[in-house]
Amino acid sequence: MTPDEQKQAASRRALDYVESGMKLGLGTGSTAEHFVRFLATHVTEKGLDIVGVPTSERTAALATRLGLRLTHLDETPYLDLTIDGADELDSQLRLVKGGGGALLREKIVATASDRMIVIADESKFVKSLGKFPLPVEVIPFGCEVTMRKMVDVAKDFGCSGKIIRRADEFDVPFLTDSNNFIYDCHFNLLPDPDGLSAGLNRIAGVVDNGLFIGIATMAIVGTVTGTDIVSRS
Ligand code: 5RP
Repeated sequence: MTPDEQKQAASRRALDYVESGMKLGLGTGSTAEHFVRFLATHVTEKGLDIVGVPTSERTAALATRLGLRLTHLDETPYLDLTIDGADELDSQLRLVKGGGGALLREKIVATASDRMIVIADESKFVKSLGKFPLPVEVIPFGCEVTMRKMVDVAKDFGCSGKIIRRADEFDVPFLTDSNNFIYDCHFNLLPDPDGLSAGLNRIAGVVDNGLFIGIATMAIVGTVTGTDIVSRS
């Protein structure tokens, strides 16, 4: 299977974990969008009672177009299950997320859920995290100072490399759904993901970072021949 077919296969298999009556967190990104499409068809075909909390405006727009019933965390603070993609995952189900810039809402929604299932193609399953640049959501006010502090904290946890503010080809900064910047940290290797995550989040000006540790409960990984289940080792 191609990577996109693997994403679709993982998304389709995730439907096995959806039951009528569930409150679902709906992730962001191309894999999560496959899932949302399959979910909409499944809900109609089986007549399921499902309500979703989207993790981005993009997912909200897609789910609305497809006729899924949506709510928000203020109305529905406890969710049964979140299903979302990832940029990287390791055998301990530690994740790097935020390639689509939605890491903050994704983390809020995932941690409001009893369980989080990651859906991904096999290229995302890595021995060690860090090849994918780690996204960090930063408040625009004083962002250069915040970035310099991120460099120092990174050093403390054995990381070095360029930290680049995400922008388009005209250098217009990317803005998250919460109107913050994303800095992508090109560290290549994260020797201490737990320490780094906690250290970054202690900096005033950092809203959150794309490391999801101790949050995912299972992953469904599409492979060339089918799908594999990964549970926390
Ligand atoms: C968005 C994310 C996505 O889950 C991640 O970027 C994976 O995206 P895709 O499914 O398109 O490969 O974290 O913020």
